[in-house]
Amino acid sequence: MKKKIVVTGGTGYIGSHTSVELIEEGYDVVIIDNLYNSEAVVVDGIEKITGVRPFLEVFDLCDRNRTDLFFKNNKDVAAIIHFAAFKAVGESVSKPLEYYRNNLDSLMNLLVAMQTNGISNMVFSSSCTVYGQPAKLPVTEDAPFQTALSPYGNTKQIGEEIIRDTTFSTEKIKAISLRYFNPIGAHPSALIGELPRGVPENLVPYITQTAIGLRDELRVFGTDYDTPDGSCIRDYLHVSDLAKAHVAAVKRLIDKKNRKNYEVFNLGTGKGVSVLEAIHSFEKVSGVKLKYKIKGRRQGDIVKIWADPSLANRELGWETVYSLDDCMKSAWEWEKQIRKHN
Ligand code: NAD
Ligand code: UFG
Repeated sequence: MKKKIVVTGGTGYIGSHTSVELIEEGYDVVIIDNLYNSEAVVVDGIEKITGVRPFLEVFDLCDRNRTDLFFKNNKDVAAIIHFAAFKAVGESVSKPLEYYRNNLDSLMNLLVAMQTNGISNMVFSSSCTVYGQPAKLPVTEDAPFQTALSPYGNTKQIGEEIIRDTTFSTEKIKAISLRYFNPIGAHPSALIGELPRGVPENLVPYITQTAIGLRDELRVFGTDYDTPDGSCIRDYLHVSDLAKAHVAAVKRLIDKKNRKNYEVFNLGTGKGVSVLEAIHSFEKVSGVKLKYKIKGRRQGDIVKIWADPSLANRELGWETVYSLDDCMKSAWEWEKQIRKHN
């Protein structure tokens, strides 16, 4: 009998890649998404890749009754992977209440439904944003939280605390928070990928949209930082690598291999890459000369951060396999595919 995994936000960027990996590992995937930031056709892409069509339930997880009803009818769920959230850092500054409500109500509704319906396992999408600018690099999981720079970042800190407190209060709920560094790229088939609405905030979609001609030029936000080439440093990992870590986390919980009721893992490559290095990697693999200009610093940017992923390497048996060039190549293939460009 296949184990049933609920993937909230499963038609979104990371959720769709994780659904693919789960199906390929023999799990039965049910997606819950309100399609606020994704489209139902993503399920077609997942089906084309895997040969299996996951079930899609369209509703808003902030609707407590609807959420309860779903789990009342699905008490056999082995684990929930909770991706559903609003994620635009800049927008969260102008719409804080919408972010707190969406990201926290949905989480609490799920936790209540888990308690009511005897569902034990949750994997939560957290972020390296919880560390702010860490004093020590690479950053390990025991580095302290720092005051969040945006309401979005705060929802991840508060979300982690809500989950931790819930797992402390009852033995029946176990959870793993995964702190992602910077996920980029697309499935190698180019059948699913990131679909940013409007002007992208993130570097890689901005690069690919500039290369394809949708944007005039990329703005590099600062080359006067205290880093080797002056631009900011991040730990970019391929979304399919990231997706596989979720399968490992789900398996750990289902197989009761977790060491504590609540665990946290960093997910990154362990390697810092500057904005200029990312641009050069893109230019190399695409053969496109990117138009970019050096601009002033972006407010709130962390100067440099990269992961110490050794805990996840050891405990989840997981590590990244895609290189930065692979990531850029897949992001470019995806951009060309969605714009029907050769
Ligand atoms: P995404 O926007 O592509 O996917 C999120 C999905 O959740 C969307 O399909 C959206 O429609 C759905 N959703 C949002 N609110 C919902 C609600 N109330 N009910 C039902 N569905 C809802 O985002 P993503 O990049 O795939 O991110 C997934 C998770 O990972 C998010 O929690 C995000 O904060 C976190 N994360 C993302 C990054 C990143 O760089 N992409 C980095 C760190 C953490
Ligand atoms: N950058 C540019 N030009 C752009 C966009 C970005 O120079 O047009 C630079 C930024 O200044 C930064 C780097 O590229 O130095 C990466 O920026 P992103 O916006 O792609 O990523 P961030 O690390 O700032 O933030 C992202 C997500 C957050 C998440 C965090 C950690 O947006 O939600 O990664 O996972 F919390």
